[in-house]
Amino acid sequence: MSRFDAAIFDLDGVLVDSAKAHFVAWRRLADELGIAFTEHDNEALKGLDRMASLRTILALGGQAFSDDAMATLAARKNGYYLEAVARMSPADQLPGAAALVGSAKAAGLRCAVASASRNAPALLERVGLASEFDFIADAGAVAHGKPAPDIFLACSDALGVVPAACLAFEDAAAGIEAIVAAGMFAVGIGDPAILKGARITFPDTSAVDLPALLRA
Ligand code: G6P
Ligand code: MG
Repeated sequence: MSRFDAAIFDLDGVLVDSAKAHFVAWRRLADELGIAFTEHDNEALKGLDRMASLRTILALGGQAFSDDAMATLAARKNGYYLEAVARMSPADQLPGAAALVGSAKAAGLRCAVASASRNAPALLERVGLASEFDFIADAGAVAHGKPAPDIFLACSDALGVVPAACLAFEDAAAGIEAIVAAGMFAVGIGDPAILKGARITFPDTSAVDLPALLRA
């Protein structure tokens, strides 16, 4: 018997190859604002919600805008991102994503998505994964974004599973921090040097050894 009853997944960079599309959309906006923005800078944005990401980029460029102007800039970036989403298909699932969720379900785990993205439901539909989950958290409904634990706790609440019985998967430092704060078992996807705090890290989704995690 495993001590886990649920698996909670981040979306961008764990299930779908969309982290790059977020970066490209932010870089397009940053270019327009005359702010240099690199893939290295982007690492700090992963997992942050839209406005927190925008504030980080504007701070990089030493620029400040009114709340209204910031809302317009964020909407412009989202338009760029949605252009990329409109071109996505099941081919944009990350390798191993559907298999991992399928194995979790086959092992009797309840499954949920904890993404900071307000586009999560649309993206999951687009890549053909929406029907796989018992619950998809509404990023707009949580009080505090990652690294706060709120969105992960919204998932465990909705699934009726205590946090200690949840395995949670993340590719972002802010996400790992959120999982640890929620009292869940944090599985990193990516570079262990970035994902400090994860109990175990796999280089990518296809490398996740679920049977070993269930014995942990
Ligand atoms: C995820 C991604 C971030 C993205 C955020 C907000 O956390 O890792 O890169 O900025 O969601 O996404 P949204 O689609 O709501 O702008
Ligand atoms: Mg992510």
